[in-house]
Amino acid sequence: VRLRIGIGGIGGRMGREIVAAAGDAGVTVVGGVARSETTNATRGSVGAGLRVVDEIGDLLPEIDVFVDFTTVPGTLAHARACAETGTPFVSGVTGLSAEQIEELGGLAHAIPLFYARNMSLGISVILSVLPVLVRVLDGYDVEVVETHHRHKRDSPSGTAMALAETIAAAREVGLSATATYGREGIAPRSPGEIGIHAVRAGGNAGEHTILLADEGEEIRLSHRALSRRTFAIGAVRAARFIANQPVGFYQMTDLIAH
Ligand SMILES: NC(=O)c1ccc[n+]([C@@H]2O[C@H](COP(=O)([O-])OP(=O)(O)OC[C@H]3O[C@@H](n4cnc5c(N)ncnc54)[C@H](OP(=O)(O)O)[C@@H]3O)[C@@H](O)[C@H]2O)c1
Repeated sequence: VRLRIGIGGIGGRMGREIVAAAGDAGVTVVGGVARSETTNATRGSVGAGLRVVDEIGDLLPEIDVFVDFTTVPGTLAHARACAETGTPFVSGVTGLSAEQIEELGGLAHAIPLFYARNMSLGISVILSVLPVLVRVLDGYDVEVVETHHRHKRDSPSGTAMALAETIAAAREVGLSATATYGREGIAPRSPGEIGIHAVRAGGNAGEHTILLADEGEEIRLSHRALSRRTFAIGAVRAARFIANQPVGFYQMTDLIAH
Protein backbone atom coordinates (compact mmCIF):
# COMPACT_ATOMS: atom_id res chain seq x y z
CA VAL A 1 0.00 0.00 0.00
CA ARG A 2 1.23 3.47 -0.88
CA LEU A 3 1.80 5.82 2.00
CA ARG A 4 -0.52 8.86 1.86
CA ILE A 5 0.82 12.16 3.10
CA GLY A 6 -0.46 15.70 3.52
CA ILE A 7 1.88 18.70 3.46
CA GLY A 8 1.72 21.82 5.61
CA GLY A 9 2.84 24.76 3.46
CA ILE A 10 2.32 22.81 0.24
CA GLY A 11 2.68 25.93 -1.89
CA GLY A 12 5.97 27.01 -0.29
CA ARG A 13 9.51 26.40 -1.50
CA MET A 14 9.90 23.16 0.49
CA GLY A 15 6.26 22.13 0.08
CA ARG A 16 6.48 22.06 -3.71
CA GLU A 17 9.81 20.24 -3.57
CA ILE A 18 8.27 17.56 -1.32
CA VAL A 19 5.40 17.03 -3.78
CA ALA A 20 8.02 16.21 -6.43
CA ALA A 21 10.22 14.06 -4.16
CA ALA A 22 7.22 12.06 -2.87
CA GLY A 23 6.20 11.11 -6.40
CA ASP A 24 9.72 9.80 -7.10
CA ALA A 25 9.66 7.80 -3.84
CA GLY A 26 6.29 6.14 -4.51
CA VAL A 27 4.49 8.14 -1.83
CA THR A 28 1.08 9.65 -2.56
CA VAL A 29 0.54 13.30 -1.75
CA VAL A 30 -3.18 13.67 -1.05
CA GLY A 31 -2.92 17.42 -0.65
CA GLY A 32 -1.86 20.08 1.75
CA VAL A 33 -2.67 22.98 3.97
CA ALA A 34 -2.15 26.62 2.99
CA ARG A 35 -3.23 29.81 4.70
CA SER A 36 -6.81 30.78 3.83
CA GLU A 37 -5.47 33.94 2.14
CA THR A 38 -3.42 31.89 -0.31
CA THR A 39 -5.33 28.63 -0.91
CA ASN A 40 -6.55 29.67 -4.36
CA ALA A 41 -3.13 30.75 -5.59
CA THR A 42 -1.64 27.60 -4.04
CA ARG A 43 -4.12 25.36 -5.89
CA GLY A 44 -2.87 26.89 -9.11
CA SER A 45 0.81 26.51 -8.26
CA VAL A 46 0.83 22.92 -6.98
CA GLY A 47 -1.13 21.48 -9.88
CA ALA A 48 -4.36 19.61 -10.37
CA GLY A 49 -5.30 16.52 -8.40
CA LEU A 50 -4.08 17.81 -5.04
CA ARG A 51 -6.47 18.96 -2.33
CA VAL A 52 -5.48 22.32 -0.90
CA VAL A 53 -7.36 23.16 2.29
CA ASP A 54 -7.03 25.86 4.93
CA GLU A 55 -8.25 23.61 7.76
CA ILE A 56 -5.87 20.74 8.54
CA GLY A 57 -8.81 18.80 10.01
CA ASP A 58 -10.30 18.42 6.52
CA LEU A 59 -7.23 16.53 5.35
CA LEU A 60 -6.27 14.39 8.36
CA PRO A 61 -8.87 11.60 7.84
CA GLU A 62 -7.40 10.92 4.39
CA ILE A 63 -3.70 10.70 5.19
CA ASP A 64 -1.23 8.46 7.05
CA VAL A 65 1.43 11.08 7.88
CA PHE A 66 1.44 14.89 7.91
CA VAL A 67 4.67 16.62 6.81
CA ASP A 68 5.01 20.26 7.81
CA PHE A 69 7.23 23.01 6.38
CA THR A 70 5.29 26.15 7.33
CA THR A 71 6.28 28.58 10.08
CA VAL A 72 6.72 28.33 13.85
CA PRO A 73 3.04 29.05 14.70
CA GLY A 74 1.92 26.95 11.72
CA THR A 75 3.88 23.88 12.68
CA LEU A 76 2.83 24.05 16.36
CA ALA A 77 -0.86 24.33 15.40
CA HIS A 78 -0.52 21.44 12.94
CA ALA A 79 1.35 19.28 15.47
CA ARG A 80 -1.44 19.82 18.03
CA ALA A 81 -4.10 18.89 15.47
CA CYS A 82 -2.20 15.70 14.53
CA ALA A 83 -1.81 14.75 18.20
CA GLU A 84 -5.60 14.96 18.56
CA THR A 85 -6.31 12.63 15.64
CA GLY A 86 -3.29 10.35 16.25
CA THR A 87 -1.67 11.22 12.91
CA PRO A 88 2.14 10.77 12.75
CA PHE A 89 3.79 14.16 12.22
CA VAL A 90 7.04 15.33 10.60
CA SER A 91 8.28 18.91 10.99
CA GLY A 92 11.30 20.56 9.42
CA VAL A 93 10.41 24.07 10.54
CA THR A 94 13.30 26.06 12.01
CA GLY A 95 13.37 28.93 14.48
CA LEU A 96 11.50 27.11 17.29
CA SER A 97 12.57 28.10 20.80
CA ALA A 98 13.71 25.45 23.29
CA GLU A 99 10.27 25.68 24.94
CA GLN A 100 8.52 25.17 21.61
CA ILE A 101 10.68 22.12 20.85
CA GLU A 102 9.73 20.86 24.32
CA GLU A 103 6.07 21.27 23.40
CA LEU A 104 6.67 19.02 20.36
CA GLY A 105 8.34 16.56 22.74
CA GLY A 106 5.17 16.60 24.85
CA LEU A 107 2.95 15.92 21.84
CA ALA A 108 5.23 12.98 21.01
CA HIS A 109 3.62 11.18 23.96
CA ALA A 110 0.51 10.93 21.78
CA ILE A 111 1.94 10.35 18.26
CA PRO A 112 5.16 9.40 16.47
CA LEU A 113 6.68 12.85 15.90
CA PHE A 114 9.80 13.49 13.81
CA TYR A 115 11.62 16.82 14.09
CA ALA A 116 14.80 17.83 12.27
CA ARG A 117 16.08 21.30 11.56
CA ASN A 118 18.04 19.83 8.66
CA MET A 119 16.77 16.79 6.78
CA SER A 120 19.98 16.14 4.81
CA LEU A 121 22.10 13.07 5.42
CA GLY A 122 25.31 15.13 5.20
CA ILE A 123 24.44 17.50 8.04
CA SER A 124 23.29 14.65 10.28
CA VAL A 125 26.63 12.90 9.80
CA ILE A 126 28.48 16.15 10.56
CA LEU A 127 26.38 16.53 13.73
CA SER A 128 27.38 13.05 14.82
CA VAL A 129 31.15 13.44 14.24
CA LEU A 130 31.41 17.03 15.48
CA PRO A 131 31.60 16.19 19.22
CA VAL A 132 34.69 14.05 18.60
CA LEU A 133 36.48 16.84 16.70
CA VAL A 134 35.56 19.47 19.28
CA ARG A 135 36.72 17.34 22.20
CA VAL A 136 40.03 16.38 20.60
CA LEU A 137 40.70 19.94 19.43
CA ASP A 138 40.22 21.27 22.94
CA GLY A 139 41.02 24.97 23.15
CA TYR A 140 40.66 25.62 19.40
CA ASP A 141 38.52 28.57 18.36
CA VAL A 142 35.21 27.57 16.78
CA GLU A 143 33.10 29.64 14.41
CA VAL A 144 29.97 28.60 12.52
CA VAL A 145 29.20 30.47 9.30
CA GLU A 146 26.03 29.92 7.30
CA THR A 147 24.72 31.33 4.02
CA HIS A 148 21.11 31.20 2.81
CA HIS A 149 18.83 32.71 0.18
CA ARG A 150 17.48 36.22 0.66
CA HIS A 151 13.96 35.01 1.63
CA LYS A 152 14.98 33.01 4.70
CA ARG A 153 13.09 34.29 7.74
CA ASP A 154 15.03 33.07 10.77
CA SER A 155 18.67 33.67 11.50
CA PRO A 156 20.98 32.11 12.35
CA SER A 157 19.65 29.06 10.50
CA GLY A 158 18.22 26.15 12.47
CA THR A 159 21.12 24.07 11.22
CA ALA A 160 23.68 26.60 12.49
CA MET A 161 21.93 26.51 15.85
CA ALA A 162 21.96 22.69 15.87
CA LEU A 163 25.71 22.74 15.05
CA ALA A 164 26.42 25.35 17.75
CA GLU A 165 24.34 23.47 20.35
CA THR A 166 26.24 20.28 19.51
CA ILE A 167 29.59 22.08 19.92
CA ALA A 168 28.52 23.61 23.25
CA ALA A 169 27.25 20.24 24.51
CA ALA A 170 30.55 18.56 23.56
CA ARG A 171 32.37 21.21 25.61
CA GLU A 172 29.87 20.83 28.43
CA VAL A 173 28.97 24.53 28.39
CA GLY A 174 25.68 26.34 27.80
CA LEU A 175 25.30 27.88 24.34
CA SER A 176 23.69 31.10 25.55
CA ALA A 177 26.72 31.84 27.75
CA THR A 178 29.26 31.21 24.98
CA ALA A 179 27.61 32.22 21.68
CA THR A 180 28.60 35.44 19.89
CA TYR A 181 26.27 36.38 17.04
CA GLY A 182 28.27 38.52 14.59
CA ARG A 183 30.84 41.10 15.69
CA GLU A 184 31.01 44.85 15.44
CA GLY A 185 33.30 47.50 16.87
CA ILE A 186 35.97 46.56 19.41
CA ALA A 187 35.17 42.89 19.82
CA PRO A 188 38.21 40.72 20.46
CA ARG A 189 37.60 37.00 20.74
CA SER A 190 37.24 35.67 24.25
CA PRO A 191 38.37 32.10 25.04
CA GLY A 192 35.67 29.50 24.58
CA GLU A 193 33.48 31.78 22.47
CA ILE A 194 31.37 30.08 19.77
CA GLY A 195 31.02 32.57 16.90
CA ILE A 196 27.87 32.27 14.77
CA HIS A 197 27.45 34.26 11.56
CA ALA A 198 24.59 34.47 9.08
CA VAL A 199 24.98 35.60 5.47
CA ARG A 200 21.80 36.30 3.42
CA ALA A 201 22.06 36.66 -0.34
CA GLY A 202 20.57 35.47 -3.58
CA GLY A 203 19.25 31.95 -4.00
CA ASN A 204 21.57 29.79 -1.85
CA ALA A 205 19.74 26.61 -0.69
CA GLY A 206 21.94 26.41 2.40
CA GLU A 207 25.64 26.36 3.17
CA HIS A 208 27.31 25.75 6.55
CA THR A 209 30.96 25.86 7.54
CA ILE A 210 32.40 24.98 10.92
CA LEU A 211 35.83 26.51 11.35
CA LEU A 212 38.12 25.11 14.07
CA ALA A 213 41.43 26.92 14.45
CA ASP A 214 44.38 27.56 16.68
CA GLU A 215 47.42 29.68 15.80
CA GLY A 216 49.03 26.81 13.88
CA GLU A 217 46.24 25.25 11.83
CA GLU A 218 42.69 25.47 10.61
CA ILE A 219 40.07 22.83 9.91
CA ARG A 220 36.97 23.63 7.90
CA LEU A 221 34.01 21.30 7.75
CA SER A 222 31.72 22.49 4.99
CA HIS A 223 28.35 21.37 3.74
CA ARG A 224 26.52 22.81 0.77
CA ALA A 225 22.99 21.83 -0.21
CA LEU A 226 23.00 21.94 -4.01
CA SER A 227 19.20 22.24 -4.05
CA ARG A 228 16.22 21.89 -1.69
CA ARG A 229 15.62 18.45 -3.16
CA THR A 230 18.04 16.86 -0.70
CA PHE A 231 15.92 18.16 2.23
CA ALA A 232 12.69 17.07 0.53
CA ILE A 233 14.02 13.53 0.02
CA GLY A 234 14.97 13.44 3.71
CA ALA A 235 11.49 14.63 4.72
CA VAL A 236 9.81 11.91 2.63
CA ARG A 237 12.13 9.30 4.16
CA ALA A 238 11.21 10.60 7.60
CA ALA A 239 7.50 10.26 6.75
CA ARG A 240 8.01 6.66 5.61
CA PHE A 241 10.03 5.91 8.74
CA ILE A 242 7.62 7.25 11.36
CA ALA A 243 4.56 5.79 9.68
CA ASN A 244 5.60 2.46 11.23
CA GLN A 245 7.04 3.62 14.53
CA PRO A 246 5.47 3.61 17.98
CA VAL A 247 4.56 6.89 19.67
CA GLY A 248 7.69 8.93 20.47
CA PHE A 249 10.05 11.74 19.48
CA TYR A 250 12.34 10.96 16.53
CA GLN A 251 15.27 12.76 14.90
CA MET A 252 17.68 12.25 12.00
CA THR A 253 19.92 10.00 14.11
CA ASP A 254 16.99 7.56 14.44
CA LEU A 255 16.45 7.60 10.68
CA ILE A 256 20.13 6.88 10.00
CA ALA A 257 20.31 4.12 12.59
CA HIS A 258 17.23 2.50 11.02
N1 LIG B 1 14.56 20.90 7.96
C1 LIG B 1 15.05 21.20 6.77
O1 LIG B 1 15.82 20.43 6.18
C2 LIG B 1 14.65 22.49 6.12
C3 LIG B 1 15.07 22.79 4.82
C4 LIG B 1 14.60 23.96 4.23
C5 LIG B 1 13.74 24.81 4.92
N2 LIG B 1 13.39 24.49 6.19
C6 LIG B 1 12.43 25.29 6.96
O2 LIG B 1 11.13 25.03 6.48
C7 LIG B 1 10.30 26.18 6.69
C8 LIG B 1 9.65 26.58 5.38
O3 LIG B 1 10.66 27.02 4.48
P1 LIG B 1 10.32 27.46 2.98
O4 LIG B 1 11.57 28.00 2.42
O5 LIG B 1 9.61 26.36 2.27
O6 LIG B 1 9.30 28.66 3.29
P2 LIG B 1 8.15 29.25 2.36
O7 LIG B 1 8.54 29.14 0.93
O8 LIG B 1 7.83 30.57 2.93
O9 LIG B 1 6.93 28.24 2.59
C9 LIG B 1 6.17 28.20 3.77
C10 LIG B 1 4.74 27.89 3.36
O10 LIG B 1 3.95 27.69 4.52
C11 LIG B 1 2.72 28.38 4.37
N3 LIG B 1 2.21 28.71 5.70
C12 LIG B 1 2.71 29.55 6.61
N4 LIG B 1 1.99 29.54 7.74
C13 LIG B 1 1.00 28.64 7.55
C14 LIG B 1 -0.08 28.17 8.33
N5 LIG B 1 -0.29 28.64 9.57
N6 LIG B 1 -0.91 27.23 7.81
C15 LIG B 1 -0.72 26.76 6.58
N7 LIG B 1 0.29 27.17 5.76
C16 LIG B 1 1.14 28.10 6.24
C17 LIG B 1 3.09 29.59 3.55
O11 LIG B 1 1.95 30.08 2.92
P3 LIG B 1 1.82 31.65 2.60
O12 LIG B 1 2.60 31.87 1.36
O13 LIG B 1 0.36 31.80 2.46
O14 LIG B 1 2.34 32.40 3.79
C18 LIG B 1 4.09 29.01 2.57
O15 LIG B 1 3.46 28.44 1.45
C19 LIG B 1 11.22 27.25 7.31
O16 LIG B 1 11.12 27.17 8.71
C20 LIG B 1 12.60 26.79 6.86
O17 LIG B 1 13.63 27.25 7.67
C21 LIG B 1 13.82 23.34 6.79
